Amino acid sequence: MTRDQRRVASSRVVNIADLRRLAQARLPRAVFDYIDGGADGEVTLRENCRAFQEVTFRPRNAVAVGKCDLRTTVLGAELSMPLLLAPVGFSRMICPRGEVLAAGAAGKAQIGYVLTTISGSSVEDVGAASSACRWYQLYLVGGREAAEAALVRARRAGFTVLVITIDTGTFGFRERDIRNGAGALIGNKLLPKLRFLPQLVVHPGWLAAFLRDGRMLTLPNVIVPGRGPMPLAETQAALAASVVTWKDLRWIRNVWPGPIVVKGVLTAEDAQRSLDAGAAGMIVSNHGGRQLDGVRATLRALPEIVKAVNGRAEVLVDGGVRRGADIAKAICLGARAALIGRAYAYGLGAAGEAGAFRAIEILRSDLSRALALLGCESVADLGRSYVDVPASWATQPL
Ligand SMILES: Cc1cc2nc3c(=O)[nH]c(=O)nc-3n(C[C@H](O)[C@H](O)[C@H](O)COP(=O)(O)O)c2cc1C
Repeated sequence: MTRDQRRVASSRVVNIADLRRLAQARLPRAVFDYIDGGADGEVTLRENCRAFQEVTFRPRNAVAVGKCDLRTTVLGAELSMPLLLAPVGFSRMICPRGEVLAAGAAGKAQIGYVLTTISGSSVEDVGAASSACRWYQLYLVGGREAAEAALVRARRAGFTVLVITIDTGTFGFRERDIRNGAGALIGNKLLPKLRFLPQLVVHPGWLAAFLRDGRMLTLPNVIVPGRGPMPLAETQAALAASVVTWKDLRWIRNVWPGPIVVKGVLTAEDAQRSLDAGAAGMIVSNHGGRQLDGVRATLRALPEIVKAVNGRAEVLVDGGVRRGADIAKAICLGARAALIGRAYAYGLGAAGEAGAFRAIEILRSDLSRALALLGCESVADLGRSYVDVPASWATQPL
C-alpha cells in the first residue's frame, strides 16, 4: 500500500467530510479555498447541500434485499454506479497530474470522468488514464479554431460526449480567492507569489510536488493559432471574453459528431433551448455555487427540468452531493446520474488518485446501503415514491 492509500484507508476516514479535513490539512490555504469556496456570500453553495437534507426517504421495510444493483447507462455508456466526476479546472494545482489521476480513479471505479478545458494535462494523457466513459467539457477560451482542434484531439483520445458549460459568461466573484490573491499562484510572475511563502513553507509536501510537476502553467488543450498553448494565467480574462451562446451551440453541433450535453441548466426555458440546440443530455448545475450566487439549489430545480424535458434527453444533476444517499435522492427525483466536483477534489487534495478513488468508493457503499435500507434492489427501481419533498417546493413554477 502506498502512503496515500494508507492515509485514506484509515478508519478515521469514513465520509467526504473526513476527506475534506485531510485536504485542508495538506493543501496551502489558497488552494484549499479555491476548491472549497463559492461565489459572493456562498448562499447557493450552502443551499445545494441543504436541499438534499430537505428531501426525506420513504423506505419499504421488512423487504429482503440481496446485493443491490447500482449499474446504469448514461448516453449509452455503462457505469458501475450512476456517478461521474464533474469538470474541475486547475486540478493540477490540487495535486500533480491532477486530471490524469482523477480520470484514473474514475476508470478503476468504472464511472464517468468529465475533463475540463481548463486542464493542465493533455487530452491524450487523460484519455489514456481510463477506459471508462470520458467526456470533454468545452469553454471557448482561445476561440473557435482552438476549440475545433481540441475537439478533434479529444475524440481521437477516446472522449465520446461533449459537455458545453453555459453558466460561465464571466467569472463568479469568489471572495475567498480574491482575498487570498489566488490568481498570483498560477501566474508567471515570481514576485507576487512571495505572499504565499508562509502557507507554502508549512505545506512542504504540496510545494515539492507542485515544483516537481512544473508543466502546469499552460493549457495544453487550448492551442491558440500562431501562439501555442494558452497561459493558465490568461484563463479568467479569456473566459470573460468568450461567453458561449445558443448561436455557438448550433456551430458546435456541426463540428462535433457525437452527443452534446449542456451543463448549467436551471430553468425549463433553458432546458427547452438545449433541446432545440440538439442536446442529448443536460446537467442541472449552478457550478457548485461558484457563479451566480442566489440561484436555486440544483436539487430544487431538478423536477422542473425533468418535467420540461419529458424523456427527450437524459437529465443529470450536480451540486452538493456529499453522500451516496444524495445520489439516491437525485435519482428518485428523475436524474439519470449525478456528478461530483468537490467530493473528489477533496480526495485528490488529501491523497491524489487514492483519495479520489476513496471518495468514489465511500459514495458507492453509501448508495448501496441506502438502497438496501430503502428496500430497493436496483437504482433502476428508484423513483418518486421513495422520497418526500417539502410542500413548499410545489409552489415553484413547473
Ligand atoms: C475547484 C472547482 C473547479 C471547477 N471548474 C469547472 C470547470 O472548469 N468547468 C465546469 O464546467 N465546471 C467547473 N466546476 C463546477 C463543477 O463541474 C460542478 O458543477 C460542481 O463542482 C458541482 O458541485 P459540488 O462541488 O458541490 O459537487 C468546478 C468546480 C470546482 C469545485
